[in-house]
Amino acid sequence: MKKSILIITTCVLSVFLFQAFTTSNPPMFKNLKVLPKDISKDGLDSVMHHFTASLGVKCNYCHVRMEAERKMDFASDAKPEKLIARKMMLMSIGINTTYFKEIEEEMSKKKDFDSTAEKITIDGDSVKNMLSYVTCFTCHHGDPHPQTKPPMEHHEGPMPPMPPAPPPPAPAQSK
Ligand code: HEC
Ligand code: HEC
Repeated sequence: MKKSILIITTCVLSVFLFQAFTTSNPPMFKNLKVLPKDISKDGLDSVMHHFTASLGVKCNYCHVRMEAERKMDFASDAKPEKLIARKMMLMSIGINTTYFKEIEEEMSKKKDFDSTAEKITIDGDSVKNMLSYVTCFTCHHGDPHPQTKPPMEHHEGPMPPMPPAPPPPAPAQSK
């Protein structure tokens, strides 16, 4: 008798446990405003690695660390760099969708146009449009502050003397 009660209790419990693991399906990420909310973990990882590689920074350039808990708070918007990055994402998507649809049409008429060139296929149009023609790397080339002036101006006649070398750039802030 006692045994059967135990078995029933175990059965009921396991049904509840099973439901807890299957029916409650919280979105994996909490604070996505540009990327698709249901983006896969692999999709998000590859976007974030595109950011770190393009700017030559680590995750903590944009994300805050909770010192007490000793872990990163990726959902937090506390760092201005993250907010700028979000605007940069919108800018890149805007450039690609506004201008490159037509540019692509013209390019496709050129003999050397490679229609098979590898295109990003992960997780939705916003990612595709952010990582197509103009990407973070196009401007940043491994630098959070991309240069706006070419290294040397062209001059008619003899070259002027070289200016003294600028001091080396400050190392990327790490905090
Ligand atoms: C250049 C800035 C930048 C860098 C560097 C960066 N991220 Fe992000 N990250 C963002 C932005 C912006 C978002 C929010 C995107 C949105 O709103 O769609 C985000 C979102 C996330 C999220 C989702 C958080 C949530 O729950 O909403 C995770 C997880 C994450 N990043 C992890 C990482 C990891 C891991 C690294 C290092 C490999 C990294 N990020 C590097 C800018 C950055
Ligand atoms: C069209 C060129 C261009 C593209 C594309 C671009 N950026 Fe930028 N970004 C800039 C310029 C210019 C600045 C200003 C740099 C400075 O402070 O001198 C900047 C600044 C930033 C900053 C702030 C740096 C700081 O610490 O002040 C972040 C973060 C950033 N970009 C992230 C991104 C990310 C992420 C992408 C891709 C989604 C991206 N950018 C795409 C041109 C670009």
